[in-house]
Amino acid sequence: MAKIPQQEIDDIRDKTNIVDVIGQYVQLKKSGSKNYSGLCPFHNEKTPSFSVAEDKQFYYCFGCGRGGNIFSFIQEIEGLSFVESILKVAEIEGIEVSEQYRNVSVENEVSSKQQQLIQLYEKAAEVYHHMLVNTALGETALDYLHKRGLSDQLIEEFNIGFAPNQRDFLFRVFQNESLDSEIFPESGLFVERENEELADRFYQRIMFPIRNFQGKTVGFSGRFFATEDFNDQDQPKYLNSPETELFNKREILFNFDKARSSIRKSGTVYLFEGFMDVLAAYRSGITNGIASMGTSLTNEQITSISRLTQELVLCYDGDQAGIAATDRAIGHLQEASQLDLSVVSVPEKLDPDEYVKKYGPEGFVSLLEHGKETVFLFKMRYRRMGKNMSNEKEQVEYVQELLHDLLDVDSLIEQDRYLTQLSTEFQISRETLQQQLRDLKQQRRSKEKAPTPTATTPAQEAPQSSVKKTKVQKAEELLLYRLFNDETLNQRLKQSQVTFFHEVYQELYMLFDAYIESEGEFVLAKFLDFLKDDRMRNIVSTIASLKVPEEGSQQEIEDLLQVIQTSSLVEEINDKKLKLQEASQKGNQQVELGLATEIINLTKELKQAK
Ligand code: GTP
Ligand code: MN
Repeated sequence: MAKIPQQEIDDIRDKTNIVDVIGQYVQLKKSGSKNYSGLCPFHNEKTPSFSVAEDKQFYYCFGCGRGGNIFSFIQEIEGLSFVESILKVAEIEGIEVSEQYRNVSVENEVSSKQQQLIQLYEKAAEVYHHMLVNTALGETALDYLHKRGLSDQLIEEFNIGFAPNQRDFLFRVFQNESLDSEIFPESGLFVERENEELADRFYQRIMFPIRNFQGKTVGFSGRFFATEDFNDQDQPKYLNSPETELFNKREILFNFDKARSSIRKSGTVYLFEGFMDVLAAYRSGITNGIASMGTSLTNEQITSISRLTQELVLCYDGDQAGIAATDRAIGHLQEASQLDLSVVSVPEKLDPDEYVKKYGPEGFVSLLEHGKETVFLFKMRYRRMGKNMSNEKEQVEYVQELLHDLLDVDSLIEQDRYLTQLSTEFQISRETLQQQLRDLKQQRRSKEKAPTPTATTPAQEAPQSSVKKTKVQKAEELLLYRLFNDETLNQRLKQSQVTFFHEVYQELYMLFDAYIESEGEFVLAKFLDFLKDDRMRNIVSTIASLKVPEEGSQQEIEDLLQVIQTSSLVEEINDKKLKLQEASQKGNQQVELGLATEIINLTKELKQAK
C-alpha cells in the first residue's frame, strides 16, 4: 500500500495557513502582530487562552497546555489518525492529492480489508433499515419503536433497522449483490453452521448500527424483538457483533461520533447504561449522551472521554443494579482520570428512557439540570443500602467507608461540610473524625509513593505550570526557545557539551539535534510532525510560545548554559551532603571521609564553572 511521501506532506503543510483552518473551528481574534487568540476547543474555558501563531504555524493553549501544528490540531479535534488528518487538511484547503494516496494505508491505518468490511456493514445497515421502514416484515417492529417514542426522523438519523426472522436473509441479499464472500466469515455478520454454510447472526432483532469515532459503521447491536409467533425465552435481549479488527468493545462508545461536538461545546458528557437511554436523551434535546456497550467502563474509553471534556455526569438506571453499576463506574473513573464527576439518580427505579416516557422530555431535562448530586452524596446513599443503620457495628462500618470516600473529595469546603454532617448524624466528635481522615490520608500517601502517570491527559505530565517553574527549568526552556529560532546556536551547545538537567529537555534536545542533522534548517511546524508524540509536541509548543524578548544575545546564551551546567553540580553536592549526614549519624567515619572529599572537589568544580 502506498505511503504518502514526506514531500507531499510538507507540500500540504506549506500551502496551508493554520489560521484559516483553525478559524473554521474556533473564533479567532487578532492579538498582536502575528498571533490570534480564542477559546480553547480542547477544554472548557470562559476567557481565551488558546493562541495561534501565524508566522510559525503552530497553536498552543496556555490553559491546558495542548499544542502542535495543523495536522495535530485536525487529528485531535476530528479524532483522526495522522494520515487521515493530512488528507482532511488537503480536502479543507482544496489541495489535490495524488490518486494513489487518497486511500492510503500505513500501519494502524484503515487497510483495504477494513474498508471492505466497513462497506459490508454500511450495506447491511442500509438493508436492515429498509426492512424496518419500508416492508411488511418490519411493520410490527416499527410500530413498537414508535410506541416507545422514537420518531421516524430519529430512526433515520440513527439508521435503526430490523433483521427479519430468516436465517439466510442477509446472506442471500449479499449474494444477489455479488459482494465478495471471502470476507463474510470475519465480518461477524454470520455464524458458521455445521455443514460449513453461513447463516445470519442476527434475526428477529431491532438493529442498532454501531459506529466508530469517525462515524463509520463497524458492527451492530441487535435487540431481540419478541412477537406472538416468535417468543424464544432463551434469546439474549441484546446481541452484539463479535470482536473484529474494527469492532473493539473496549474502545467503542455508542454515539460518541455524533455527540463529540456537543460534548465539547457544552463541556459536559452524560454517560448512560443503554442505547435506548442515549436515544431517549437525544430526542429530549440532550445530544451529548453516550453509552458503553453494556460493559463496565474501560481505561481506553475513559481516556477518549477525557480528551474532550472535564465534566462527566453519570446517569445510569435507577434500579439496584444501576446504582451498583454507578458505584463501580465512579471507582474506575476516579482511578483513571481527573474528570469532575456527578451523579443523576433516576427516581422510582426507572431508567432514563422510562423516565422520558413518563415525565416527557421537559421532565427529563429538568431532572438532569436540577437532579445532579455530588459523588459523596451519592456514596452516602449508596453505602446505606443493605445496612441496618440501627445496628451499631454497621453504623461504624458505614462511617469508616465514608471517610475513605471523603479522601476523594478535593474541595476542602465540601470535606468540611460532610465531616460536620457525619459528626452530627452519628454523634462522633469532629476531632475524632478529622484525626481518622488524616490517618487515612497518610496511609494512602505512603501507598502512592511512586505515582505512575496513567490515563491522565498527556498535557498534564509536562513540567509547564509557569508558577512552579524552577530557575533551571526556565533556563532550559529559554535556551531551547533560542535554539528553535536560531539553529546555528547548536554549534555552541555542542562545544560546551551541555547536558540538560531535566530529562525531558535533554530528550527534546536530542530530537532537535537529530532533526537538524537530517533537515538542515529548523521549521517548527515540520519539527512537530517529526516528534510523533503528543507529550513532546505539547512541550515544544509551550516553549515556542514563551513570552520573551525577541532578540537574544551571546551573553544570554552563556548565562543560560551556566545555570544549566551548574545546576546538576549543585544537585549532586546536595545529594552527597545528605548522605554525609546519614553517615555521620550512623558513625560511619570511613564513608564520611570519602563523601567529604567528594563534596570539596565538586564545590571546587562549581566555583570554576561560575
Ligand atoms: P430496553 O430494555 O429496550 O429499554 O433497553 P435498555 O437500553 O434499557 O437495556 P438495559 O437497561 O436492559 O441494558 C443496558 C445495556 O446493557 C443495553 O443497552 C446493552 O448494551 C446491554 N445489554 C442488556 N442486555 C444485554 C444482553 O442480553 N447481552 C448483551 N451483550 N448486552 C446487553
Ligand atoms: Mn430501558
